[in-house]
Amino acid sequence: MAIQKVGVVGCGLMGSGITQVSAQAGFQTVVREVSSELVEKGLKGIEKNLARLVEKGTIPEQEKDAIRSRLKGVTSLDELKDCDVIVEAIIEKLPAKRELFSALDDLCPARTIFASNTSSLTITEIAAATRRPQRFVGLHFFNPVPVMKLVEVVRTIATDPAVFEEMVNFGAKLGKTPVRAHDSGGFIVNRLLVPYLLDAIRALEEGVGSVVDIDNSMKLGCGYPMGPFTLLDFVGLDTTLFIAQIMFEEYKEKRFAAPPLLKRMVLAGWHGKKSGRGFYDYADPANPKPMSV
Ligand code: 3HC
Repeated sequence: MAIQKVGVVGCGLMGSGITQVSAQAGFQTVVREVSSELVEKGLKGIEKNLARLVEKGTIPEQEKDAIRSRLKGVTSLDELKDCDVIVEAIIEKLPAKRELFSALDDLCPARTIFASNTSSLTITEIAAATRRPQRFVGLHFFNPVPVMKLVEVVRTIATDPAVFEEMVNFGAKLGKTPVRAHDSGGFIVNRLLVPYLLDAIRALEEGVGSVVDIDNSMKLGCGYPMGPFTLLDFVGLDTTLFIAQIMFEEYKEKRFAAPPLLKRMVLAGWHGKKSGRGFYDYADPANPKPMSV
């Protein structure tokens, strides 16, 4: 099956990034949000990213217009019914995802492939809300989607091997390096990344080093683009806690257990960069101030 038209549900941080790379890769792309305000907000972000690419000389102005012409923002799910692939990037709540896919299952022809961008929920359980678990995969992108080169393509025990390979090829067509993963908690990246981030918090709790010293250690000692606390604030502390709790539930291993400090920070509303405060205070965004523990 030649994929020509891509549907994306959700035009937040991840959904807008997926929409952008899909249109950039040459696919007709329809993105759906629940209100026209959210559609506009998401499309504006994409427009800004594309304008930056033109400014830097990465793409010519005409290319930007061509990408824009392949993009359509909608509020009705109905407009996604003739898509070849639909990628979901809505809130990380199982009932919401199951409800969405059940509705899409009624709407779309049997050939449409469904994919979820979930980072931690079980693909098998989302797919079970449809009558097409054999045409269901995980497509896990990384933030910021236009920049990060990886996509995890996740198969369940029910995924048709031919559909899986088609989605691996689709990931490559989006300009990403696809990796194949099984549907186990955290797939590949979060299975390794989450214990690392939680360990950094434990090291801070134990007084091994300060926020800045631990960040600099991993940045300059290991060549990571961001230290663990900068990355935690970037990903979101609420998101990290949510993923850790699901993984702990799955594996019952201490390395996935959320440290008390992370829980307290989330309870206090310190969700990282998006809330203005996490391991750093972003009151002055150009000069984030580290917390002292
Ligand atoms: N959207 C689009 N482009 C962006 C962007 C965004 N939000 N943020 C940065 N960029 C682009 C910039 O335009 C720039 O492009 P250029 O090289 O062509 O000029 C390039 O990225 C580098 O940006 P900057 O020079 O401003 O800043 P950095 O060099 O510090 O890079 C970064 C920023 C790419 C975010 C880098 O710090 C990085 O790679 N950080 C680690 C990110 C990471 O680990 N992400 C994965 C998180 S885990 C996850 O998503 C999984 C989930 O399940 C939790």
